[in-house]
Amino acid sequence: MITMMFQRAREVFILLFLAVFSKAVSIKSNYQRASPMPSSDGSASYCLSWRLAVEANNVRAWPMVPTQCMRHIESYMLGGQYDHDLDLIKDQILSYVNETVLNGDGMDAWILDVDDTCISNIFYYKGKRYGCDPYDPTGFKAWAIKGGCPAIPSVLAMFNKLVEKGFQVFLITGRDEETLGKATVGNLHNQGFVGYERLILRNATYKGKSAVIYKSEIRKQIEGEGYRIWGNVGDQWSDLQGDCLGIRTFKLPNPMYFVP
Ligand SMILES: *[C@@H]1O[C@H](CO)[C@@H](O)[C@H](O)[C@H]1NC(C)=O
Ligand SMILES: *[C@@H]1O[C@H](CO)[C@@H](O)[C@H](O)[C@H]1NC(C)=O
Ligand SMILES: [Mg+2]
Repeated sequence: MITMMFQRAREVFILLFLAVFSKAVSIKSNYQRASPMPSSDGSASYCLSWRLAVEANNVRAWPMVPTQCMRHIESYMLGGQYDHDLDLIKDQILSYVNETVLNGDGMDAWILDVDDTCISNIFYYKGKRYGCDPYDPTGFKAWAIKGGCPAIPSVLAMFNKLVEKGFQVFLITGRDEETLGKATVGNLHNQGFVGYERLILRNATYKGKSAVIYKSEIRKQIEGEGYRIWGNVGDQWSDLQGDCLGIRTFKLPNPMYFVP
C-alpha cells in the first residue's frame, strides 16, 4: 500500500514536471517568434539563405537570381567575400595536393572547368544584373568570343602549382568548340593558363547533352586513356556529378547562374 502511494506520488510529480517544462518551452518559443529580427533589411537574411541553399545544391535548376537579391550578389561578388571564399578553397586544394604522392608516370590528372573556374564572367553578368536577367546565349557568345575574361587569381595560382607538381591538367568546358574554340584558347593563354595537357570543348557529338552527361563521358575517356583523376574543380554542381569524378571534388561558389 505504501509502495503504491509512493508510485502514485512519483507519477504525479513527473506529470507536473512535464507540464511546467513544456509551458516554459512554449513561452520561450512564443517569445522568440514575437521578437523582431535584429536586421533592418529583411531581404539581406533571405538572400544569404538563398545563396547558401544554392551552394549546397538544395535549390536546383533556378532560372534567375531573385530580383531582391541583386545588390546582395553584387556585394558578394565584388566586395571581397567571393575572393576570400575562393582563397580558402584554394588553400584546401593545395593542402590536399601537398599530401598526394604522384606516380610520376605522366598519368596523374586533374580536371578544371573553365567559365567562372579559371576565367571570370563577372563583368558580363554585371550587365545581366548579376543573374537577375534571364539567360541570354547569344549575348554570352558575343562576350566570350572577345576573349577578354580575366583570370580568377586564386585559381590561376592553384593551376600553376598543379602544373609545377606534375599533374596533367585537363580543362573541360561546355563552350562550343566550333564557334568559341579559338577565342577560348586565346583567352586562357592571355590570362596565363599555360602548360595544361588538353582543353576539351563541346563538339557536335555532345550537342544538346546535359553538362553532367557530356563531362562524365569526357572524364570516362580520360580515365580510359589510363589517367588517374586526383581532383576535379568547378563552379557548377554539374561539373562534379556523374561518372569518373576523381578522388576529390571541389565546388567553387557561383550565385549568378545554374547550369543543369
Ligand atoms: C606539406 O606536407 C608536409 C609533410 O608531408 C608538411 O610538413 C608541410 O607543412 C605541408 N605543407 C602545407 C602547405 O600544407
Ligand atoms: C568530339 O570529341 C570526342 C572526344 O574528344 C571525340 O571522340 C569525337 O569524335 C568528337 N566528335 C566530333 C564530331 O568531332
Ligand atoms: Mg563553370
